Amino acid sequence: MTLSPLEAGPREFTFTDDDFRNLAKLARAEFGLSLADSKKPLVYSRLARRLRARNVASFRDYMTLLAAEAEGEERLELVSALTTNVTSFFREKHHFDSLQSELLPQFSQQRRVRIWSAGCSSGQEAFSTAMTLLAAFPDAARRDMRILATDIDPAIVRKARAARYPLEERAAIPAALQSRWTVTRETDPGFFEMAPDVKALVTFGELNLVEPWPFRGPFDAIFCRNVAIYFDQETQQTLWANLARMLREGGLLFIGHSERVSGPATSDLATAGVTTYRKRPGRDRPATN
Ligand SMILES: C[S@@+](CC[C@H](N)C(=O)[O-])C[C@H]1O[C@@H](n2cnc3c(N)ncnc32)[C@H](O)[C@@H]1O
Repeated sequence: MTLSPLEAGPREFTFTDDDFRNLAKLARAEFGLSLADSKKPLVYSRLARRLRARNVASFRDYMTLLAAEAEGEERLELVSALTTNVTSFFREKHHFDSLQSELLPQFSQQRRVRIWSAGCSSGQEAFSTAMTLLAAFPDAARRDMRILATDIDPAIVRKARAARYPLEERAAIPAALQSRWTVTRETDPGFFEMAPDVKALVTFGELNLVEPWPFRGPFDAIFCRNVAIYFDQETQQTLWANLARMLREGGLLFIGHSERVSGPATSDLATAGVTTYRKRPGRDRPATN
C-alpha cells in the first residue's frame, strides 16, 4: 500500500486512507455528516483524543470498537468530536426580530403555538426564542405556546436542560430581557440561570435529524441553524424537504448564515429575508425521512 503525504509523517495513531474512507462512510450513513478527503487531517486531530480516551492504538481498532458497541455510546462521541456546539444567545438577531415582527402578531389570534429548535446545542437558541415570546406574551404557557429543542448529542442536551450559563454570556441578551428572565444567585457566582417561566416553555430531547422524527408538527417556526452545514448535499436536501413538511402554511424556517435551502424544498419555501424562508400555501407533502 502506498502512503499519502499525510500518512508519511510520524503520528501517534495509524490512520490510512482506507480507515478514513470507512469512517467517512459510517459518519454519512448514520449521521448524514459529510467528510470530504480534505477533512482527513481535521478528523485525525479531532478523533485522536477519542482513541486516547478509549485506549485503542489505531483508527482500525477504533472502527472495530465502533462496530462492536451495541448501544452506540462511542458513535455519539464521534458526532460530538466531528461537529461543534458553538452557539450563543440571540445569535443572528435578525431572526428573532423577524419572529417578533412577522409571527408574533398572528400568535395573539392562535390557540396553540409550536416552535422547534432543531440542533439546539446547549439551548441558547431555544431560550432566546422563549424570551422573545414571553416579552410579548407573559402568559405564554397558559396560551399553549411551546418550544421543542432537540440535538443528537446527549451531553449537550443535558447541559441545555440545566439552563445554567457563564455570566459572560448574559451580555448578548437584550437588557430588558436579562433583568426579567435571568436569575443570578450568590451561591453560584460566575453563572446565571434562565428564570422558571422561560424554562417552562422549552422541552428538550435527543434526536438525530437524519433518522425518522417521532412527531408530526406542524410548527409555526423552525430554527435549524448551523447544523446542515455538516451534511452532504443529498442529506441537506432531504432535511430541507422534511423541515418544510413540518411547517404550517405561512410558517418560517430560519437557517444558518452560510446555509441555503436547495432541492425539492425550494418549491415549498419562499425567501422571506436573510436565511429566512416562508412555507407557501398548499404545499403539504409526505415524509421522506
Ligand atoms: C453549531 S451547533 C448549532 C447550534 C444552534 N442551532 C446555533 O445555530 O447556534 C450544531 C449542533 O448540531 C448538532 N448536530 C450535528 N449533527 C446532528 C444530527 N445528525 N442530528 C441532530 N443534531 C445534530 C450538534 O450536536 C450541535 O449541537
